[in-house]
Amino acid sequence: MRNRAAITMERPAMNSTPDVDGSPRPGTAVAQSSEPAVTVSGVFKTYATRDGVVEAVRDVSFEVPHGHVVSMVGPSGCGKSTVLKMIAGLETYDRGTITVRGSDPAPGRRDCGIMMQSAVLLPWRTVRDNVMLPVEILGLDKSESAQRTQDLLELVGLQGFEKKFPWELSGGMQQRVSLARLLVFEPQLLLMDEPFAALDEMTRERLDLELVQLHERFQRTLIYVTHNIAEAVLISDTVIVMTARPGEIVDIVPIDLPRPRTIMSTTTPEGTALIERIRRALDGSTEEEVQ
Ligand SMILES: Nc1ncnc2c1ncn2[C@@H]1O[C@H](COP(=O)(O)OP(=O)(O)OP(=O)(O)O)[C@@H](O)[C@H]1O
Ligand SMILES: [Mg+2]
Repeated sequence: MRNRAAITMERPAMNSTPDVDGSPRPGTAVAQSSEPAVTVSGVFKTYATRDGVVEAVRDVSFEVPHGHVVSMVGPSGCGKSTVLKMIAGLETYDRGTITVRGSDPAPGRRDCGIMMQSAVLLPWRTVRDNVMLPVEILGLDKSESAQRTQDLLELVGLQGFEKKFPWELSGGMQQRVSLARLLVFEPQLLLMDEPFAALDEMTRERLDLELVQLHERFQRTLIYVTHNIAEAVLISDTVIVMTARPGEIVDIVPIDLPRPRTIMSTTTPEGTALIERIRRALDGSTEEEVQ
């Protein structure tokens, strides 16, 4: 599917800005724009390398409505991280347009947060101070954010670990710190690049479920990159399937499984059929093994 494929709006648009505790903050109701949160339109991207030009992404177009979770799956090297970085304003593109909440992508936006595969925590700062880092960088109110940090650490199951250092934590706990750090400045758009890929299956499944619950509570827009088809189906409203490099979109799959979701959602006949559809789209595009 090389041309623009709009993702169907299946869930109600968010009409207020929830606070960390999930309740709408007084006086913060916002008129929800009918514009998508993210529009990627006819985007091409090449990298100049020592060995010549590498075409990473070819003619990629999709839209992400506000409050939706959209996952990108595809074989290694198909350009998933590149797409995410372009949306985050961390990478340029050669052709096409990307619009993020009504304006051009730019790094360091307050309304957009990115979480990478490894937690990238600062080893000399405690858990609490790592979570507070974006607050310092963005110059936000420290006392208000300190309370939010505490709430978030509780939410991600790290109460009591505030004064620990990253190297005293397991990989899963470090990713939880990273998740709290992503949420602390309340970005409306979350970009997550295989955040749980390095973790064991059980920990990943638990964190996926926590993410599902967090999303059902906060209703932020999320673009999520993964190699794992079941994970994509579990968390998403829509799954974008990409071909091997140069990455093109081969299928855009609406995930109409009911919410709230549980780990069993992907084992229902509907869930299994969706996983099969995505697997077939991937098999048609590459020989490479995808989980
Ligand atoms: N900074 C860069 N310089 C040169 N080539 C790059 C750069 N970043 C990515 N590429 C190339 O662009 C292509 C897409 O890379 P990208 O990291 O976006 O893929 P991916 O789908 O995220 O892969 P993976 O699943 O392994 O993370 C690859 O061929 C990669 O080698
Ligand atoms: Mg990647």
